[in-house]
Amino acid sequence: MPGLNDLYQEILLDHNSKPRNYRKLEEANRSADGYNPLCGDQIQLYLKVEDDKIIDVAFQGTGCAISRASASMLTQSVKGQSVERAQEIFDAFHTMLTEPDAELDYDTLDDLECLAGVSEFPTRIKCAVLAWHTLRAALDGKTEDVTTE
Ligand code: FES
Repeated sequence: MPGLNDLYQEILLDHNSKPRNYRKLEEANRSADGYNPLCGDQIQLYLKVEDDKIIDVAFQGTGCAISRASASMLTQSVKGQSVERAQEIFDAFHTMLTEPDAELDYDTLDDLECLAGVSEFPTRIKCAVLAWHTLRAALDGKTEDVTTE
């Protein structure tokens, strides 16, 4: 569809310049630190989880436009969702980036589809998944830092 890529790029640029939920979440009861050793970028992800529901989510850190936009979009897509649903969103996102021939779950991906083009650039896949692996670690209650390697 002509113009679709432009639209996607606009959404990504908007998330990069105005990242959503970019703050420290003081009332977080789960958190994790993610690190991309290839570039040194890092992210802190904070969650407030109650009764298996993600009540609130926020992030901070330093990263490239893709990692920042991806983290911002992550916070929007999992906020208010059950932990199980967040896992499904993770799976759909991860599949989109790492399994080029797989059938995609567009209903679950929603706006995250904007990042589909990243799958064509292997080194940038790590940028896009950094926040997502950090989310998984926070949900799993892992204490060691997460890396993309
Ligand atoms: Fe570091 Fe993208 S270049 S996360």
